Amino acid sequence: MHSVGCDINPLVRLIATAKSTPICLSTLDETLNRLSYHHFQVEFQEGEVPDAPIPDIPNLTYWFSEEVIRCLAYLRSWINKIENESIRNFILVAFSETVREVSYTRNGEFKLYRMPAKKLEDFNPDVFGIFSKKLSRNRHGLAAFLEKRKSVEVSVSDANTATGELPMPRPLGGYDLVITSPPYGDSHTTVAYGQFSRLSAEWIGLPNARKVDKLAMGGHHSEETLMDSPVAEAIAEIESVDEKRAQEVSAFYIDLERSISSVAQVLSPNATICYVVGNRRVKKIMLPTDAFIVSAFRQHGCIHKATIVRNIPNKRMPKKNSPSNIVGETSTTMHEENIVICQRTTHI
Ligand SMILES: C[S@@+](CC[C@H](N)C(=O)[O-])C[C@H]1O[C@@H](n2cnc3c(N)ncnc32)[C@H](O)[C@@H]1O
Repeated sequence: MHSVGCDINPLVRLIATAKSTPICLSTLDETLNRLSYHHFQVEFQEGEVPDAPIPDIPNLTYWFSEEVIRCLAYLRSWINKIENESIRNFILVAFSETVREVSYTRNGEFKLYRMPAKKLEDFNPDVFGIFSKKLSRNRHGLAAFLEKRKSVEVSVSDANTATGELPMPRPLGGYDLVITSPPYGDSHTTVAYGQFSRLSAEWIGLPNARKVDKLAMGGHHSEETLMDSPVAEAIAEIESVDEKRAQEVSAFYIDLERSISSVAQVLSPNATICYVVGNRRVKKIMLPTDAFIVSAFRQHGCIHKATIVRNIPNKRMPKKNSPSNIVGETSTTMHEENIVICQRTTHI
């Protein structure tokens, strides 16, 4: 389909751009062959990774060993010399994932946590090996994409929908289909996308690397309160145990509502809207985000078609969190998610 992807996170946009850009395989292979020739020379002939400028990233040695920093810096300066932007982006995606894997961050976490000290001693990742495996896997992905791809226009937009920005370009007559998974509203606590992408974004030199969680929905406090909303009762209950937390939760739903208003402005007359959401718990109180979305879209002339519940497949999601912040006391976060489907209708 002709489509536009939209996200405030620059790393997300880089990955989305790279994975939706057709690249001529033989042109890509020329660059990949040059790259492996250089790595071969460095690893087996010179024996030492040549010096390259090291990016100015705070606490770099806390997250990477000296050896890993040398290798990443070398790769980074090599990649930066690639003139073809589509190929550079393609290679940066593999680099980004490599950064994550060769860092001292713990696996299976969204938040930036360092490995335990004992593990650090034996952690000696093969940076070039990991990088080239990722490149070859992504090359397979590109080949599969090229086979299936139709002649369509795809673009990526940096619109912040919660501040009223609309994704561009905008089709005449509006979008027929919106598919999105808004954040869960806990970017500071459980699902910290900004933290997750930070090290890669800093190595690549993307803007706002440390600000993503603040820019995201619910990242800022708000003076407003939510009235007559399906989440109002739950927020009042949260407020009775933790006022600050209730404000944070409220700020998220205010942003989500604004974002839905932005989305509603760009719909075609019979557009279908699919929101994938988890009804998370805060202080053991369940927040009915699915009902919130239905109610917000109703205010914009949409009807609720269905809500499909499914188990969360293979997501990097904590199965349990500590609602009271008391060690050992956990409650279930989200094992299942809802796909809320609404439709704009011109008849109501
Ligand atoms: C649950 S993730 C979904 C990611 C991806 N679309 C997917 O389905 O895997 C939520 C995404 O919303 C983005 N986001 C948060 N606030 C936003 C806003 N105000 N405008 C646009 N995107 C936003 C975050 O950066 C994050 O990538």
